[in-house]
Amino acid sequence: MTTIVISGKGGTGKTNIAALLVRILSENKLVLAIDADPDTNLADALGFPVTKTVGDIREGFLDEKDELAPELDKQSYFESRVMSIIEEADRFDIIAMGRPEGPGCYCYANNILRAVIEKLEGNYEMVVIDTEAGLEHLSRRTVRDIDLLLVVSDVSKRGLDTADRIRTLANELNIRVKRIAVIANKVRNEHDREKLKNMAEKMNLELIGFIPFDEGLAALDLDGLPLTQLKDDSPAFKAVKEVVERLNIG
Ligand SMILES: Nc1ncnc2c1ncn2[C@@H]1O[C@H](COP(=O)(O)OP(=O)(O)OP(=O)(O)O)[C@@H](O)[C@H]1O
Ligand SMILES: [Mg+2]
Repeated sequence: MTTIVISGKGGTGKTNIAALLVRILSENKLVLAIDADPDTNLADALGFPVTKTVGDIREGFLDEKDELAPELDKQSYFESRVMSIIEEADRFDIIAMGRPEGPGCYCYANNILRAVIEKLEGNYEMVVIDTEAGLEHLSRRTVRDIDLLLVVSDVSKRGLDTADRIRTLANELNIRVKRIAVIANKVRNEHDREKLKNMAEKMNLELIGFIPFDEGLAALDLDGLPLTQLKDDSPAFKAVKEVVERLNIG
């Protein structure tokens, strides 16, 4: 089982790239897509809007927990409810985390949640997690073993700076990350490529691919249409496919 986390600065294209990855990887693999952004929109991008999140279940649990007696009951309460909110698309499943309990909270419910995710992961070959912008999701440590941390950057030094900070924080938090790579998105020309390449090299960041600015993708997003409608020969789709091949994860 391979866990891929998509991270990066705000608005760089994390959700769109996560959706394309899920689409491409699920051609050959059993994929679970996890929307870990409280502002859930991976599900929309994949054309499967979720109605209930893990956060909703947690709230229900906190309301009812005094009536639930033994340990085992709490665990199975979570498991059965989490299972029930997994949306099953044709080629992949999707679950949304919803809102967290709050920073620095090591509540019992969060621990059970982590256990449930670890258990769920065992049912799939690939888990693709879309996260909210910035570093907070790492601090929450819902995932402690990451095979591939893909940091999406736009065409900016700040995008790469965020990648650098994410790498540092993952180290500090002792999150096991096997590989970290940067995807540069919304790239418009050769000049952008060269500039980003040089900057990444200096920062010792692995730049694994360039995704061009794609008018078709932007048009779908403008109309709130899912990325499942993006054609296979569109520039962004082809570029993400190349990244998958280069990473050898397809
Ligand atoms: N390759 C691309 N070509 C054109 N537009 C793109 C591309 N990638 C992303 N966009 C546009 O950039 C905007 C942000 O994309 P997206 O929502 O995927 O970013 P995000 O990093 O998930 O944002 P957030 O930090 O809010 O979660 C959207 O309007 C989207 O249409
Ligand atoms: Mg997003």
